[in-house]
Amino acid sequence: MKKLSKVLAVALAIAVIAVTFVACSGGSTEKEKLSLATSADFPPYEYIGDNGAYAGIDIEIAQAIADKLGRELVVENMDFDSIVGAVSTGKSDMGMAGLTVTPERLESVDFSTSYAKGIQAVIVKEDSPITTVDDLYAEGATYKVGAQLSTTGDIYFGDDISEGLTTCTLEEYQAGADAVAALSSGKIDAVIIDNEPAKSFVAANSGLKILDTKYADEDYAIAFPKGSALVEEVNKALEELIADGTVQKIVETYIPAE
Ligand code: ARG
Repeated sequence: MKKLSKVLAVALAIAVIAVTFVACSGGSTEKEKLSLATSADFPPYEYIGDNGAYAGIDIEIAQAIADKLGRELVVENMDFDSIVGAVSTGKSDMGMAGLTVTPERLESVDFSTSYAKGIQAVIVKEDSPITTVDDLYAEGATYKVGAQLSTTGDIYFGDDISEGLTTCTLEEYQAGADAVAALSSGKIDAVIIDNEPAKSFVAANSGLKILDTKYADEDYAIAFPKGSALVEEVNKALEELIADGTVQKIVETYIPAE
């Protein structure tokens, strides 16, 4: 009896040590999370790959930043028009989505250093009567123009309509691919969207082309809650990744140089 309790005591002691060890080592390797708001509907910047995993330029740059910061990247996928709100309210640590720096967005979020240039392009059907961006501004033009909700293409064209600069109309879609599908099926006449996604969508759908003239030039950057301490940390990491060629290498994997 006495012997048995001794054996039990030793076993118990070993168990306690083992549990403590596992708990501590687990605790010390658990990284602080870095949540990323994005809208994975925008190849080649962010999309869901064939294997079901998030992929794209922004995802890889975000991962490289998280690695430098020693944090675990957690992708939070949402509709594009929810991103700025998720970031400004602090629900997400940062937002990356081919996101253009605009004066209006700067009122609710802070932006990192810019890591890429964007271009707003116009997609039309191959046999479209629209041959330049100016055609959308021609007197009496009644083309239906589509854009993803809350994107700069949507905002700029909506502003142009309000200001009476164009007599065309605007159709808003939750995703760029929905606008492109509406164009393919003849419901609308043109789609304003960023140039690289435009190329992806045109490659994936026959009968479409991108106009040679562009609609607008912009800068992409990472958004943060106003005053976030991450801005400085991420800028430092991002500048290192730009300087050592990592960003360029990531971009070239997705956008082969012509
Ligand atoms: N650059 C445009 C903007 O900031 C469009 C970005 C859309 N991004 C996306 N992941 N759907 O408004």
